[in-house]
Amino acid sequence: MKFKQTLPQIDLPLDMIHLGIGQPSNYLLPSKEMEKAADHCLSKGNNFFLAYGEERGNSNFRGTLAEFLTAQYQKPVDPDQLLITNGNSQALDFICTLFTCPGDTVLVEEPSYFLALKIFADHKLNPVSIPVDDNGLMTDVLEERLETINPAFLYTIPTYHNPASVTLSLKRRQELIRICAQKNLLVVADEVYHFLNYSDDPPPSMGTWNNICPLISLGSFSKILAPGLRLGWMHTSEEVIKKISGSGLMVSGGGLNPFTSEIVNSVISLGFLKTHIQRLRNVYRQRIEIFCDQLKKYLPDQVMFKVPKGGYFIWVKFLDGVDTNTFRKETQKQNVDFYPGNFFSHQKELKNYMRLCFSFYDEKILAEGARRLGKVISDNLS
Ligand SMILES: Cc1ncc(COP(=O)(O)O)c(C=O)c1O
Repeated sequence: MKFKQTLPQIDLPLDMIHLGIGQPSNYLLPSKEMEKAADHCLSKGNNFFLAYGEERGNSNFRGTLAEFLTAQYQKPVDPDQLLITNGNSQALDFICTLFTCPGDTVLVEEPSYFLALKIFADHKLNPVSIPVDDNGLMTDVLEERLETINPAFLYTIPTYHNPASVTLSLKRRQELIRICAQKNLLVVADEVYHFLNYSDDPPPSMGTWNNICPLISLGSFSKILAPGLRLGWMHTSEEVIKKISGSGLMVSGGGLNPFTSEIVNSVISLGFLKTHIQRLRNVYRQRIEIFCDQLKKYLPDQVMFKVPKGGYFIWVKFLDGVDTNTFRKETQKQNVDFYPGNFFSHQKELKNYMRLCFSFYDEKILAEGARRLGKVISDNLS
């Protein structure tokens, strides 16, 4: 099976199906809409967005984004509670810069997004993990841990988790807020997959609780529009926004990405974002159906996974004692790859898991990937 892959930052052999890749297919990147939106904003005869921007972000854009979020969350979002970022990776790095010192403890989920763990390592932070189950972060374990440690913040991926694909239930969200308000613990909620639901709506965004406990909700256009925009937002209290917008980076360079913000302002006001999210939901829903059917067909019975309700990932569990790294070389030889579970554990545990992603390849290639993977795994586990 031959297919063309264009992935500038990952050097993939031709014909390799890398089920670890967590980004949208190139054909899902909305170039036509971006072209129209750029034309729309550049033809207005006003070029304020080419100057240094307001520290908390282009106010025109914050207004439009607040309206969009208000409609999506069905709860009011105030533009003064939004700060524009270069996406969630930059926002996380920035939060570490402003809210931590090297050696501080941070609470992370087990498993967690492996590149967030890398950002925390860059800042020489000391991660302590809290397990997740089918309802997301285990708040009873969190409460227990907080009796003995005093972390700088808690990092959580509440909705359509990367990699576990679980969603924090409403009850757990309320528990989390109660516990963190009581301890005055900053919650950093990475909500990058919040809008990618394929059946029911998820529970309310964590951002809607930012007046009750110290909380920064991180949103990004990477998964709902295009990662190349490097554009996202923080939804938080005005107090936190004041602290961040008074930082050296903001005061010196002005707000982040004022030009791209104005283009995305047009994307939203022309109605493209809503339509694009709907398109992504339809495409991913269909991919999940076919990919999961094929995985069920080809994977041995002892290998378990749940069909995702949103996001990008399938978190596959093997029996205790299996190490998915042991057959990765063989899968690579057979031109199919995945990310082993230990990537997502700061203690390098969870070896009996693998993460598969369905955002990058179409149904036909995913089905072929499932077949190749199933063959190697069946041969190795028998
Ligand atoms: C949980 C999580 N956070 C952050 C990111 C990166 O987001 P951004 O492109 O906005 O930096 C990803 C991308 O895979 C992710 O899965």
